[in-house]
Amino acid sequence: MTPKEETILKELREAQSFKALEELYKKYLGKKGEITLIFRELKNLPKEKRAEIAQKANALKGLVEKEFKLKSEILKKEAEKQSFEKEKIDITLPGKKIIPGHLHPLTKILREIEEIFSQMGFEVVGGPEIENEYYNFDALNIPKEHPARDMWDTFWLKEPKNPKSPEGVASRPYGAGKIQNPRLLLRTHTSPVQLRYMEAHEPPFRIIVPGRCFRHEATDAYHDVQFYQVEGLMVGKDVNLANLKAIVSEFLDIFFKKKIKIRFQPGYFPFVEPGLEVLISKDGRKWLELIGAGMVHSNVFKAVGYNPRNLQGFAFGLGLDRLAMLKYKINDIRLFYGGDLRFLEQF
Ligand code: DAH
Repeated sequence: MTPKEETILKELREAQSFKALEELYKKYLGKKGEITLIFRELKNLPKEKRAEIAQKANALKGLVEKEFKLKSEILKKEAEKQSFEKEKIDITLPGKKIIPGHLHPLTKILREIEEIFSQMGFEVVGGPEIENEYYNFDALNIPKEHPARDMWDTFWLKEPKNPKSPEGVASRPYGAGKIQNPRLLLRTHTSPVQLRYMEAHEPPFRIIVPGRCFRHEATDAYHDVQFYQVEGLMVGKDVNLANLKAIVSEFLDIFFKKKIKIRFQPGYFPFVEPGLEVLISKDGRKWLELIGAGMVHSNVFKAVGYNPRNLQGFAFGLGLDRLAMLKYKINDIRLFYGGDLRFLEQF
C-alpha cells in the first residue's frame, strides 16, 4: 500500500461522524475530488502512461468506496447504540405519582343532596345569582320599608348600562307592574327562585334549588360573604307540615347515614306562615339550628297568581356550607373559599 493510500484509509477510519465521513468522500470522490481529478487529467497524459495511471486511480477509488461503506455501517451502529442507551427505561425505578384532580368538598355535598332529593321525587332547578329587588324581597312578602329586610344585608348593584345584558334582563319590571324599575342585587337567599318557578309552573310539584348566595356582612367562622343554600318547595292540594317533617327527617338520616334527632321551634320568615326552624342534635350534642322552613305564605302564592284557597305548600332553606361543616367536622366556613390546597386535598 502506498503512503497516500494509507493516509486516506486512516482519515476515513478516524472519521467521528457522518458529516466528517461525507466530507472525506467529497474530498476524494466528489466532483472536484482528488481522485476524480486524476480521471479527468487522464486524456492529457501521454498514451503509454494512461493505462497504468487509470488502473491505479481505479484501485484507489475502489479502496475509498469500500472503506466509506464500512465506516458508514460502523457509524450507523454506534448511533443506534447511543439512542438505545438514551431511551432505555429503567423499569425498576419507582413510578411517578399521578395526582388526580378531585371535587371541591362543597360540590361533593351538593351532589349528594341533589341525589337524595331526586330520589324523593324532587326536581333540581336553578335561578340567577344577580336578582332584582322584586323577587329577592317584595314578592316574598318583604316590602321596602319592612324591618325584616334587615335580616339580609344586601350587596346592591349599580344600574346596568346595557338593558340587553343578563343584568339588564334581570332588572326588567316583573310582577304585573307592582314594582317599577326594581333595583338589582346579589341574591341574599335562594328563596326568589320559588317565585320564578311558580310563575312558570302549575302545582303539584316539588323542587329543590341549590345556589350561591351573598351577604354584605362581616365574616367569622360561621359567616362568609358568599355561601350556598338549598331551597326546597313542595306545593299541592294538601301539602302540610307533617310532610315537611317527614321529608326533612328522611333527608337528614340519609345524608348523615344515621338517625338524626330533629326538633321544630317557631321562627320568623316573612314568606312563610307559620315559620319555623329545624334544629338537629348530632352525636348527642346541643341543638343546632340548621334549616329555616314553614308553610308558604298566601301573599307569596298571590304574587305568582296562584289561588291560596286551593293550595298549600311548604318551603325550606338550608345552609349547604353548614351541612358540609357538620359532616366533615370543619370549624371555619371560610376554609371552603380560601383555595388552600392543604385543606382541599383532604377531600
Ligand atoms: N331564605 C331564608 C334565609 O336565607 C331561609 C328560609 C327560611 C327559606 C324559611 C325558606 C323558608 O324557604 O321557608 O334565611
